Amino acid sequence: MIRHYTLAALFMLAAVGVNAEEKTAEQLVASKKKANITYRQLMEVMGAASIMINEGIVRENPQMVRDGANLIVNHPAPNHKPWTIVAETDQADFKQSLLIFDKIMDNQAEETANMAEQGRWLDASTSAHALMNSCISCHASWKAKAK
Ligand code: HEC
Repeated sequence: MIRHYTLAALFMLAAVGVNAEEKTAEQLVASKKKANITYRQLMEVMGAASIMINEGIVRENPQMVRDGANLIVNHPAPNHKPWTIVAETDQADFKQSLLIFDKIMDNQAEETANMAEQGRWLDASTSAHALMNSCISCHASWKAKAK
């Protein structure tokens, strides 16, 4: 129930931003540089990025936070359509999640790096925590459904 509530809230939050642009998941993927890695390998990069962000905050190293944030904001597309990792009946919903979370995570990563660059470490930490919650929200909905 909580999981559905969180997802519903995120959908509503993102409806404002995403619908304004009318971007589809296909367009999102096409807008990214392509890398010769799978979606799972892209996630490994995301994991490394989040470690870099958190370590940068603890060490008070703004460049480390910025580099980690850039890995998230500028992440490439994998070498296959991301939604093929879930069953066909789930693909439309997964595409929605990709669109919504991509935008939310970009904003949160950017905010975290900005706070770090201003030396506002507690604010950077709060923002990094929100970013991690985005990762975890999507995982709670989708990780077990990946083929
Ligand atoms: C749009 C949904 C979504 C978002 C957002 C998301 N992930 Fe994932 N993540 C997945 C799915 C689905 C898998 C499982 C992939 C698989 O097993 O093929 C996964 C797997 C992973 C894994 C495990 C990789 C492996 O080798 O098994 C890591 C680490 C990870 N994600 C980190 C992150 C981090 C860090 C973030 C946030 C910065 C994030 N993810 C955001 C959907 C998402």
